[in-house]
Amino acid sequence: MIVGCLIYLFAVLLNKVSLEVSVTGYVGDPAVLPCSYTEDKNKVQEVSWKYDHKKIVYEFSPESPQSNMDSERFESFRDEYDSGNYSIKIKKLVITDKGVYTCIITPADYVANIKLIIKEQTKIQDPSSKGHYPFPMLLDWL
Ligand SMILES: *[C@@H]1O[C@H](CO)[C@@H](O)[C@H](O)[C@H]1NC(C)=O
Repeated sequence: MIVGCLIYLFAVLLNKVSLEVSVTGYVGDPAVLPCSYTEDKNKVQEVSWKYDHKKIVYEFSPESPQSNMDSERFESFRDEYDSGNYSIKIKKLVITDKGVYTCIITPADYVANIKLIIKEQTKIQDPSSKGHYPFPMLLDWL
C-alpha cells in the first residue's frame, strides 16, 4: 500500500515518465523493447534509446528513415513508425544487455523506461515468441 502510494507519487512527480515496463529475453535471441507514442506525429523528430540512463545506444528519425544509423545490434521497425510504434529490436542478446533502456522522443519530451531481464536458456523456444519464453517451468529445472 505504502509502496503503491510512493510509486504513484513518483509517477506524478516525474510527469510524462511512464511506469517501467519489463521485457524478458534469452541469450542468443532477439528482444523487442517497446515504445509507442501516438499523440502527435509532428512532435516525433528524433527517437533516442539510452542504456542505463547514460549512453545513447541507438537513435533514429522516423521522418527520414534513410538517414537512420546502421547498427549491428539494434534495429527499428520502419513499417511501424506510421502507427506511432518506435520500438527497437536487439538482434541477438548477450547477458550484459540486461538493464534499463529509455526511449526518448523529441521534441515531444516523451520518456519511457523498459527494463530488460536476460535469462540463459536451454534451447527450447517458440521462434515466434519475440522474447517471451513459452515454457517458463523448464527454467526451474536448471
Ligand atoms: C511494434 O512493432 C513491433 C515489430 O513489428 C511489434 O512486435 C510490436 O508488437 C509493435 N507494438 C505495438 C504497440 O504495436
